[in-house]
Amino acid sequence: MGMIDSCIFVILGGTGDLMRRKLLPALFYLANNKLLPGKHAILGVARDPNLTDARFRRWARKILADAGLSARLGTRNWCDGCLHYQAVDETSAADYQALAARIASIEHGSGIHGNRVLYLALPPGAFSAAIESLAEAGLNRSQGWTRLVIEKPFGRDLASARRLNALVHKHFDEKQVYRIDHYLAKETVQNLLAFRFGNGLFESAWNRDHVKSVQITVAEELGIEGRAGYYEQTGALRDIVQNHLTQLLTLIAMEVPAALEADSIRFEKVKVLRSAAPIRHRDVVFGQYTRGRLNDRRVPGYRDEPGVAAISATETFVAMRLQIENWRWQGVPFYLRTGKRLPRRVTQIAIHFRSPPVALFPSIVGRASRIPARTNALVITLQPDEGFDLSFEVKTPGERFTLQTQRMTFRYAEAFGTLSAGYETLLLDVLQGDQTLFVHADETEAAWRLYTPLLRKRSPPRFYPAGSWGPAAADRLVQLSGDAWENGSPGAGQASSSANR
Ligand code: BG6
Repeated sequence: MGMIDSCIFVILGGTGDLMRRKLLPALFYLANNKLLPGKHAILGVARDPNLTDARFRRWARKILADAGLSARLGTRNWCDGCLHYQAVDETSAADYQALAARIASIEHGSGIHGNRVLYLALPPGAFSAAIESLAEAGLNRSQGWTRLVIEKPFGRDLASARRLNALVHKHFDEKQVYRIDHYLAKETVQNLLAFRFGNGLFESAWNRDHVKSVQITVAEELGIEGRAGYYEQTGALRDIVQNHLTQLLTLIAMEVPAALEADSIRFEKVKVLRSAAPIRHRDVVFGQYTRGRLNDRRVPGYRDEPGVAAISATETFVAMRLQIENWRWQGVPFYLRTGKRLPRRVTQIAIHFRSPPVALFPSIVGRASRIPARTNALVITLQPDEGFDLSFEVKTPGERFTLQTQRMTFRYAEAFGTLSAGYETLLLDVLQGDQTLFVHADETEAAWRLYTPLLRKRSPPRFYPAGSWGPAAADRLVQLSGDAWENGSPGAGQASSSANR
């Protein structure tokens, strides 16, 4: 593990959802695979004054057992040896002083030399107060290094993101700050860089001369899963578009970085966002699901979800068109789309290439019909069925000159087995001080600059039944430029006939 021989993870929000679902299993995985420093400790911090070390450890063991990690793997020893709990009332400065003392005492007892990860696994509204209090208790510096990890969403709009960045920078250097977007930990997202810059073939076609449009979709079958408190304050634009979708957009659209390292890559990503033209209200469709059927199951509408206001105008779907005004992309529409309760979980990027310049085969360029022209498309699926599909036209056997779309496919699972990804990667990068997969202050602000105007004076969401691909207006958005949404690839060999339509 390089030079780091010891460290402590201080997890604020240490009994919360994120800890339970992601952090604890990831930390255990790393420890069990000897990827954590030999001497490490985990201190869960939360409000509950009645929780003790012993009960916290029992809770953790149960979570690991529920996640399929049995006692044989040493969960018990690990929990008893490394896990600690400290109750902190976030309004109490004295409690933060006590936290500082507790950290020092655990470090002392475990032979840890001051390397600290401070992890804010908190609701966004609690970030500022926590950062302030940590700093007041002197926890922004230590004998070793101190790194601050902040979960999304980072701010609610441009003004709040700026305030939060200013507060962070008052107490921490940007080099200490790790803003998480868990999409960046996905193996296939990282692979976009390899795909683009490791293959001369595609990079030479990656521009306005060859690309007609780009679509990026993050579709979920899930609804809000009991998170009304969070989601009512957030909505799809803040929950997915400003972060996950924007990360995919910048990785797809960025120029070749000077080097494959954090600063060069972030620099190119920010440039993409700065080149984006202001998004017009008429190029955005907000939607909200009503009750419907999904996988043969009836599901309630958003307004019927527990905790959601009966007249809530929170969007659960967003589709938009944006333009990146630089040499590479001038005139190429980028479509972003996300939604909950859509028919299928799929995250994918579809690059549609231009049709041949001369219409030898009328069906390729679409006669004067309303049916969009079929063009070569490269569809990069990030989940759940990771891989690439490149579609092209072939002549079907027989006398008539009829074209059909076929695909060349590549599936990661077939080549490499199942992909693991997620918090393990990000936690290791934090330990190693590698900020490549984290979001820089400038990036968050540039993204908010683009989307904040859409939060004002927006039209109410259009309804779509759960189990559909969103409001019809989202289809019209792409049809305007002769496109159609790519709705996931339910498997290879799904050739669709394009001829004689
Ligand atoms: C989270 C959002 O950031 O991403 C959730 O808050 C969403 O609403 C989730 O469900 C989707 O992540 P993934 O990795 O399942 O695509």
